[in-house]
Amino acid sequence: MWRVKPLDAILATAEKKSLHRSLGAFQLTMLGIGAIIGTGIFVLTAEAAQKAGPGMILAFIIAGFVCAVAALCYAEMSSMVPVSGSAYTYSYAVMGEMLAWMVGWALILEYAVAAGAVSVGWSGYVVGLLENALHIDIPNTLVRGPLDGGLVNLPAAGIALVVTALLVIGTRESATVNAILVAVKVAALTLFIILAFPVMNMENFNPFMPLGFGGVSAAAASIFFAYVGFDAVSTAAEETKNPQRNMPIGLIGSLGICTIFYILVASGVIGTVGAQPIVDSAGQGLRPGSPALSAACQAIGESKVVCSKEALAWTLRNIGWPQIGNLIGLAAGLALPSVILMMMFGQTRIFFVMSRDGLLPSRLSAVHPKFHTPHVITIITGVFVALFSAFFPVGVLADISNSGTLFAFAMVAIAVLVLRRTDPDRKRPFRTPAVTVVAPLAAVGCIYLFFSLSAETQLMFAGWAIVGLVVYFLYGYRNSHLARGVVEVPELSPDAPPESVPPMPGAPPPGAR
Ligand code: ALA
Repeated sequence: MWRVKPLDAILATAEKKSLHRSLGAFQLTMLGIGAIIGTGIFVLTAEAAQKAGPGMILAFIIAGFVCAVAALCYAEMSSMVPVSGSAYTYSYAVMGEMLAWMVGWALILEYAVAAGAVSVGWSGYVVGLLENALHIDIPNTLVRGPLDGGLVNLPAAGIALVVTALLVIGTRESATVNAILVAVKVAALTLFIILAFPVMNMENFNPFMPLGFGGVSAAAASIFFAYVGFDAVSTAAEETKNPQRNMPIGLIGSLGICTIFYILVASGVIGTVGAQPIVDSAGQGLRPGSPALSAACQAIGESKVVCSKEALAWTLRNIGWPQIGNLIGLAAGLALPSVILMMMFGQTRIFFVMSRDGLLPSRLSAVHPKFHTPHVITIITGVFVALFSAFFPVGVLADISNSGTLFAFAMVAIAVLVLRRTDPDRKRPFRTPAVTVVAPLAAVGCIYLFFSLSAETQLMFAGWAIVGLVVYFLYGYRNSHLARGVVEVPELSPDAPPESVPPMPGAPPPGAR
């Protein structure tokens, strides 16, 4: 179970595929922003406010910082091992099969559960838009999950299934569509900042940390979700021109741009409508996504931003810009499905690589004869994503997703340090600066955020990890290709039949390669 997949074998795979390289630094940055900006800033801002009050600004900074140091580690790994599979592949080369499996298993949380969270976020905005712009009143029972004052979130499950169908028939977002959607999101956030800043009231920042620093840490652990997605850039490493230079630019560039936007937008929300949490009689903040908060919100007529399922649109409506609020809702409605698409795509790609390594049954990576997509795994993923999003609140899903992501990020940081020691002479086109400080900071930062998640979330993660270990020992341990002496170096030529998953969304079509 400690067997490692030799780096040279992994790199040989990349070499064989080198003809497909087509993405440059700009496209990677756009890809990153496309995957990053989503439910986190548009929706979870309200949850961060409920956990931290105005101190959520600090939460955004802390989570952004942890992601930045983690991104520096990702950049070293992905420039050195520019192949599919991201954290899973790096761990396989460095820390052995069992830990790699655990990382892959945790990435299921990162991608599939995150896709569920973004679906719920999308539903909040679209329902708000229908109610406010078209005055269609939809009962909560049909548009919210059971923990959120409803029964089933049909729009969320619906969008997850639509995206699944698009992925099965092989829809890929073209670079142009991705660029347009990035422009829509950036324009929406910019408009928000322009309208909010002039009417900010600095008194709204007081008290700054009504629930103490514990509240800020809890908010940071949740709002971390808003930054997830930059690592999707590294999954495109096999398709990147000059990955040594372009990967770090894409990773750090997209993260940096989003961080600036997030801090400005969060300040705009706090300064205009205030961000004080709703507390119980003992002065404790009510948990986001809990029936107690949902009831408290209904009692006050949802008159605080912390109750909103569409924080940014809600804020604009409350400062006298109802039409622009609807416009922001429209922007979210248009752009969030592409985040769902990227997350589900990332999931199928990780599964694909894991089954290529024999850790999952090869039947799962079966490719559809007509559409040439890994339809089996896509449909299985889609059904689960739809179920998650139908029954769970956005914050709960985002937190569970974060637990898996934090584990994977911490492993990448450790892998960078281990490889510096065990394989010091290997070419490192991008070297994490001050690695002895940055990599431990990334690992410790992830551990700190993990333990700032709610106890339920940590428990969920532990349960998931145990199930993962059982599956590994029952299946992967024996069926692993490495165990059976098969080291995969697929012979791919540019016109080989499409036996692998299609390229990353946002990549130019094969004809343009
Ligand atoms: N960062 C992505 C979002 O906020 C996952 O939706």
